[in-house]
Amino acid sequence: MRMIDLIERKKRGKELREEEIRYFIEGFTDGRIPDYQAAAFLMAVCFTGMTDREIAWMTDAMARSGDQVDLSSIPGVKVDKHSTGGVGDKTTLILAPLVAACGVPVAKMSGRGLGHTGGTVDKLEAIPGFCTAMNRADFLRTVRETGACVVGQSGNLTPADKKLYALRDVTGTVDSVPLIAASVMSKKIAAGADAIVLDVKYGGGAFMKTAQDAVQLARKMVEIGRACGRKMAAVITNMNVPLGNCIGNGLEVAEAIEVLEGRGPDDLREVCLVLAAQMLFLAGKGEVDICRQMAQKALDSGSALEKFRQMCAAQGGDPTIFQRPEILYEKAKVYELAAPWDGWIQEMDAEACGRASMLLGAGRETADSVIDPAAGIVLCRKTGDPVKEGETIARLYTGRPDQLEQAKKELLESYRIAGEKPDAVLLVHGVILGE
Ligand code: URA
Repeated sequence: MRMIDLIERKKRGKELREEEIRYFIEGFTDGRIPDYQAAAFLMAVCFTGMTDREIAWMTDAMARSGDQVDLSSIPGVKVDKHSTGGVGDKTTLILAPLVAACGVPVAKMSGRGLGHTGGTVDKLEAIPGFCTAMNRADFLRTVRETGACVVGQSGNLTPADKKLYALRDVTGTVDSVPLIAASVMSKKIAAGADAIVLDVKYGGGAFMKTAQDAVQLARKMVEIGRACGRKMAAVITNMNVPLGNCIGNGLEVAEAIEVLEGRGPDDLREVCLVLAAQMLFLAGKGEVDICRQMAQKALDSGSALEKFRQMCAAQGGDPTIFQRPEILYEKAKVYELAAPWDGWIQEMDAEACGRASMLLGAGRETADSVIDPAAGIVLCRKTGDPVKEGETIARLYTGRPDQLEQAKKELLESYRIAGEKPDAVLLVHGVILGE
């Protein structure tokens, strides 16, 4: 087999055979196929796409390229959840204890943030002492004893995806539905859960800019998961506006605690309840509306918060955050952003909010940037809110005032303020079930 023949055929939009896709993934992972040929192949995929069979073969080959996690020592149906990434998306911090409080174990491996989007591991590491690097045996034991554990990806999980993603990042080949679907699903399959709920985001702060594109991506991923024997559901959610009011690691942990206390912003609570209901449904806890009520009760009764306390204790996190969540962000200096004129917030640019937060120190410009856990933004007003000239619309938290003016500029430009009250924001576009 020769890589050049595969590139030529993909360039003409032909379907490749299973052994050819495996040849590409294995050869690229072990270094026999050079980056320039892999890049040409990826670009051909961006232009001519892949059939469903090709995507499934590629996902499978990538999932098998390294370790595969065996969760069979944990009793019951194990449910995983994955977000395609957004701004202010702290749903995993809430969902892991919430779903565990309803009796469904959550053994979750999460990633770090890059660019304008945050990562769950960075958020958890904003909690003093919290350990996200555990060996496999301790990870499984913690899930068995506590019901929930969230760690960073460890070991040699999907090395093909790590290498391919790094190449896609520098060759303009990230935004391809088949490549994103195979990348996300290979990691989910290798991580071992029986059921997977996907939160596929669309809008300015997401990979998929329209709901239609998000639905297309979600359908492909649900199909792949089903073909690999997993129970699947995908929720299509809006990322034109940051989720919740807080962006930045420590601030987002504090906001997650608020939701677990039965309070917090309505949009964040609603997305969490929709996702939790799907996770509990796939785990066999009953019809979706019963599952939603179960999740609602766990938030209102404090049992989800108690589960988060237990999870934090098991992972070494400082329990003071529950009495004094301010310790998560009080090291930063706070600056206010004022509304430039009267009106209604018509829309926001979620990606620009994420970039502003990154400039304040909450995110990574490059993979080796150092994060300030206390940095970030609290949005006091969001899309749909009325504002008065001079009123504070956001508070900026940073220990790096050198980038403050640029961050303020980005954030102010992310708001469009005008005369009329806009239509309400549609938060959940729909749910795709794997049936
Ligand atoms: N997230 C992933 O894990 N992979 C992609 O390709 C895009 C988003």
